[in-house]
Amino acid sequence: MKGIILAGGRGTRLHPITLAVSKQLLPVNDKPLIYYPLSALMLSGIRDILIISTPVDLPQIHRLLGDGRQLGLSLSYAEQPEPRGLAEAFLIGADHTGGDPVALVLGDNIFHGHRFDDVLQENARDVEGCVLFGYPVTDPERYGVGETDREGRLVSIEEKPARPRSNRAIVGLYFYDNEVLDIAKNLRPSARGELEISDVNRVYLERGKARLVDLGRGCAWLDAGTPASLMQAGQYVSALEARQGVRIACVEEVALRMGFIDAEACHRLGERLASSDYGRYVRAVAEEFR
Ligand code: DAU
Repeated sequence: MKGIILAGGRGTRLHPITLAVSKQLLPVNDKPLIYYPLSALMLSGIRDILIISTPVDLPQIHRLLGDGRQLGLSLSYAEQPEPRGLAEAFLIGADHTGGDPVALVLGDNIFHGHRFDDVLQENARDVEGCVLFGYPVTDPERYGVGETDREGRLVSIEEKPARPRSNRAIVGLYFYDNEVLDIAKNLRPSARGELEISDVNRVYLERGKARLVDLGRGCAWLDAGTPASLMQAGQYVSALEARQGVRIACVEEVALRMGFIDAEACHRLGERLASSDYGRYVRAVAEEFR
């Protein structure tokens, strides 16, 4: 399965913070925001990843992550000149996807939870149709919303409905079979002029090929699109990391535990960052693994 991180947009809800810096490079506690969605793809077992961002932000993201070889990944980059909608990722990423299934993750979504990697790996296997992930929230009107029947089957998908039919937000991580390329190609822009991901998902729903997997209470899903949510995300990560002494979305550790790199390589990555607590943590994890 191929991966795409959509990390563009103007970040207007974070102005003036994002006037000169990409939102996806802002810190969430001890690491850049983009580490979190990147680690979600890595935990799904995905190593071939396209990062899409604005022409201005892309070089900075490239400077941070390079070609990904240090993490046992293959990272490539593509521009989205204007934010024409999440589903444009499949038009920009068509060559990258080729004939494979593909996972799309939004560059500002943060996931964390007990056995989250198992949930990801189980659902990334043999994707037929699309797999969406639902999460209960108190403000569903801000998101794509999925409604299920008594048997848990998905029956409706609405984008930011004024009167949501359920409290189940559809999070910014999606697994698709290769049909998504055709579906995206035939999509019309919505009233707000965007190629909406909910419209893609609705096509799958109409074909009886959309599944909603509940992430449930044991998982945390945060987005970092506003100053308040960015701060909350940082506080959440900081509280857990300080209490448990482990790090969330430490991409070097994820690469090591997934078997993408060995302990020596991980140790070298830690050495390069050794004046920070983060770097010392990477080194310690590698030493424990040796
Ligand atoms: O976070 C989950 C939600 O993401 C879903 O529940 C919604 O169904 C989905 O439409 C999306 O809603 P948002 O209101 O969060 O979408 P937004 O326009 O804010 O874009 C999400 C991220 O993607 C944001 O970091 C900017 C980036 N983006 C957005 C657009 C429209 C791009 O890189 N390119 C784009 O064209």
